[in-house]
Amino acid sequence: MTALAEVRIGLLGFGTVGQAVARLLREHGPWIEARTGKRLVLVGALVRNPDRHPDAGIPLTTRAEDLLDHRTADIVVEVLGGVEPALTYITAAMEQGQSVVTANKEVLAYHGSDLAELARRRGVALAFEASVAGGTPLLDPLLSHLALTPVYSISAVLNGTTNFMLNAMEEGLDFAQALRRAQRLGYAEADPGADLSGQDAVRKLVLLVREVWGVDVRPEAVPVLGIEALSPAVLARMRRIGLRVRLVAQAVLDCSAGCVQLAVLPRAMGADHLFASLKGPDNAIAVRTATGDYTLIGPGAGGLATAHAVLADLVRVAAGYRPPQAPADAAVRLAPDPWREQFWVLGGEDAPEPEGVPWEPVARAWHLTPPLTVAEVADWLSRHPGFAAVTREDPEEAGSDG
Ligand SMILES: NC(=O)c1ccc[n+]([C@@H]2O[C@H](COP(=O)([O-])OP(=O)(O)OC[C@H]3O[C@@H](n4cnc5c(N)ncnc54)[C@H](OP(=O)(O)O)[C@@H]3O)[C@@H](O)[C@H]2O)c1
Repeated sequence: MTALAEVRIGLLGFGTVGQAVARLLREHGPWIEARTGKRLVLVGALVRNPDRHPDAGIPLTTRAEDLLDHRTADIVVEVLGGVEPALTYITAAMEQGQSVVTANKEVLAYHGSDLAELARRRGVALAFEASVAGGTPLLDPLLSHLALTPVYSISAVLNGTTNFMLNAMEEGLDFAQALRRAQRLGYAEADPGADLSGQDAVRKLVLLVREVWGVDVRPEAVPVLGIEALSPAVLARMRRIGLRVRLVAQAVLDCSAGCVQLAVLPRAMGADHLFASLKGPDNAIAVRTATGDYTLIGPGAGGLATAHAVLADLVRVAAGYRPPQAPADAAVRLAPDPWREQFWVLGGEDAPEPEGVPWEPVARAWHLTPPLTVAEVADWLSRHPGFAAVTREDPEEAGSDG
């Protein structure tokens, strides 16, 4: 696609993000045009049920082929979610010459390499700024700028729902209330399972790792513990010793072995830690590179913030921009041994002392394990309802208090 002044956009999906894209263009079209020289025109949106959107303000269709046609739309924005039919539609769009902007980390985590290769072959753009950290400009500064020199580690809060819920539970809401509030505010997916289990953060981590190091990792290969076992009672115990808990996605390069180790785990950290201060659904990423340490922080979810990132991709793609390709022949691979780490396993103040725990006692119903795999900890938790496992962001201090 050559640079265009008027750009026709087909929206696949008119939910939280799709409607917010339409709203941004409706309310700020002249501003965007004045700044960018691009008139972004929505030609229509694909939905399952048009009756649900009587005031859409743009033509709605249930037939994807109405929009997957380069004679109708120059760029397709995929904001359906899930793997199918998103994969089929993104593939069809690029096959016949449309560029694609997507916010869908799930389809990218499983099929990102094939889709990037298709985009390259067809000479179109596949842009996905909104798929990681929602509205925070993260991929562009990371991939176009920071990753120009070697990246040694990434540590990030990548799931806005869990961050919002951990904050809400610290304020006294129980788990179900915190989840309902996140859903009401549009921060949680309709099916929040992937957020709570940590899988959503895993998908984003897998995507980052592929783009930064060229390592193709299946999401199933990443050790993960979500926040399901965390309760206001456990978080209150952490708070009493000055710690807050965040769901942290980590990728650490072992340069001598040429391996990268990945994990997504609840981590306790001091209140002065950057991640501890994250508000609402905010996300943050800390990147260690050959030239120094960098942090990026901003909204990780929410319709308007995410739509903003979609818009940024639209403007760049309309100007002929192609996102950087992931390294094709990187020497880095996934570490063969599973991640091991010390965990605190603990219940609330009133939890009964579990019997026969072989680990170092820290306080009542609170133990410090030796280095364990995530699978070993998950197995113990499955037999001890009411208990949670938390690691330290700075593990050398683990067990120092309690
Ligand atoms: N919400 C956020 O804060 C956020 C943040 C970052 C990234 N994302 C990503 O953005 C994408 C969209 O999220 P969302 O929150 O906007 O989702 P959503 O509110 O559930 O909206 C999905 C839209 O897609 C339509 N749709 C779904 N399946 C369809 C199908 N098979 N055929 C036709 N239409 C279909 C739905 O149609 P109906 O209206 O008829 O139901 C709805 O309009 C996801 O990949 C999500 O992970 C979201």
